[in-house]
Order: sequence, then structure tokens, then C-alpha cells
Amino acid sequence: MKSLRGRDLLSLADLNSDEVYGVLDLAAKMKAGAINLQCPQKVLGLVFQKASTRTRVSFSVAMYQLGGQVLDLNANVTQVSRGEPTTDTARVLDRYLDIVAIRTFDQQEIEEFARYAEIPVINALTDLEHPCQILADLLTIQEEFGGLTDLTLTYLGDGNNVVHSLLLGCALVGLNIKVAVPSGYEPNLAIVDKAKQLAGDRSQVVVTPDPQCAVKDAQILYTDVWASMGQEASADDRIPLFQSYQINQSLVSMASKEAIVLHCLPAHREEEITNEVIEGPQSRVWDQAENRLHTQKALLASLLGVA
Ligand code: CP
Ligand code: NVA
Repeated sequence: MKSLRGRDLLSLADLNSDEVYGVLDLAAKMKAGAINLQCPQKVLGLVFQKASTRTRVSFSVAMYQLGGQVLDLNANVTQVSRGEPTTDTARVLDRYLDIVAIRTFDQQEIEEFARYAEIPVINALTDLEHPCQILADLLTIQEEFGGLTDLTLTYLGDGNNVVHSLLLGCALVGLNIKVAVPSGYEPNLAIVDKAKQLAGDRSQVVVTPDPQCAVKDAQILYTDVWASMGQEASADDRIPLFQSYQINQSLVSMASKEAIVLHCLPAHREEEITNEVIEGPQSRVWDQAENRLHTQKALLASLLGVA
């Protein structure tokens, strides 16, 4: 693949279709042990202002497996918690680190960081996007179906960061996407328009309030929490509004017989997904979580210029 050396990944749309396929291809080869890349002495900084299990640990393990080092720079242990501006933090960390992954609230904050830092900046989740998650999701789908085209993914639930990156990722690889969301919780219109533009006439991008219609014939069902980090205060109010978007056995039975079920995790069982489905034979959530490691290892290798 063409190297992504020195680039940022702030939105999944920062990559083109060939680049997404390139990362997936490299990740699959690294996962199979067919290629072993190393970037010793490179240091990854993790600047996280929200909780994380998968992203923090998979990025750390990926960097260790590449022979590099990781610094966990959560806001509480740096001057960020005392108000040092992003513009100053970015210019200072740029002098020490080789690459940085940032988890925060406002997308503009990582964009500002990236403007002030020369090193690659990776979006490890903002309120707007979660691009690294979707690289792992696409690898999981590719492993299951042997490709990414002539398939339909139906996302049910909240029009949040995960579905924004899913819209862009599906459009980039030519995977049809249907998004079923309650009225008032639709995804960002600019992102839906961008996805339609990226998909062109290669694949479909549909947003609908009708969950049953959306799951019909879908090969991939996907959901995420109904209230994301930072939205905890509205969590109880959302439950009745989202109830008919729950992935349960009855909804799964309306999808294609070969359908698989994905969830980025953490899951709230009996809210957006039932225990029966997440633990059932169609669930691929553990493979999906594992693939965070492989796709991010490929991404780090490419951004650091060793792939
Ligand atoms: N899916 C995901 O990003 O999980 P964490 O919040 O645990 O990193
Ligand atoms: N939408 C969720 C994803 C967590 C990985 C959140 O932002 O909390």
C-alpha cells in the first residue's frame, strides 16, 4: 500500500477508498503473521479526556508489538486539566512524541491540535467521529463475507460519532448502509451528504425512522449505546424513544439468514441489544474488539512510515 507517513486521521474521510482498503489489507497480513513491521524507539502519546478500555489498550499493545513505547497522558496527569491551551500543549508534545492519539469531546479540539503539531494526530473518538473503530468493523465484515461490496449494513440507534464514521467508511468501501434512528436523533446532515457524495452510484446511503424496514435483507446489524459519553444526563429519557430500535431476536430474524451482529462496545444489555443476541451465534463482537488491535497496528505502522 501507499504509505500514510506523516498524515493525520481526524475523520475517516481523511482516507480515500484505496487507503482504507490498504490499511485493511495490511492489518489482515499482520494479523495472519505474514508481515512483521517494527518501529523501535517511536513513542505514541495517548491524550484521553474520556474513559476507554478497547482503544487505550489496543493502541498500547499495538505500539508495544511494533517495538515502540506508549505514554498515557490522560488529562488529569497533565497541565491540560489546569487549562493549558491546546495550541500550547500541541506544540510542546510535538517536540517529544512521534505520534499521538486523542480522545476528547469537541472535534475542533483535535483539528486545532493537528494544526499546531507536525506529528500524526489520530482521532481516538470525539463527539463527532470514531474512525479507528470503523477500520476494525470493516476488517471484521471482510473476514466474515470475504469482501465489502454487495452487502448491506443496518445501524440502529442514536445518530452519534460511531454512525458518522460508519457512514463515511461504508461509503468509501462501497458497502450499502441503512441508518434507522428515532426522529430528532438523526446523524449530522453534512456527514450524511458527504457519505452520499463518497458513495456515488457505487452503494446506497439511507436514513430512515423505520427499524423493521431497515433490517430487511441486511447482512450486518450494528448498534451502539443510546446515550454516549457526555450524554449521561439524558440517558433515562432516551430509553422509551429508542425501544423499537433495540437489536433483539425478533429484529435479527427479519434480517438476512447469514446476518452477523456488531457492537463497538461497551454495551448496555437489554437496552440497545439483548443479552440473548450479544451472546448468540450471530454476534461477532469479540472478533470486532480484537480487530481494533490489528487495524490500529497497521495504521500506526503506516502513519509512522514503516509500511
Ligand atoms: N469501542 C471503544 O472505543 O471502546 P472504548 O471506549 O473502551 O475504547
Ligand atoms: N458512542 C459511544 C461510543 C463508545 C465507544 C460514546 O461516544 O460513548
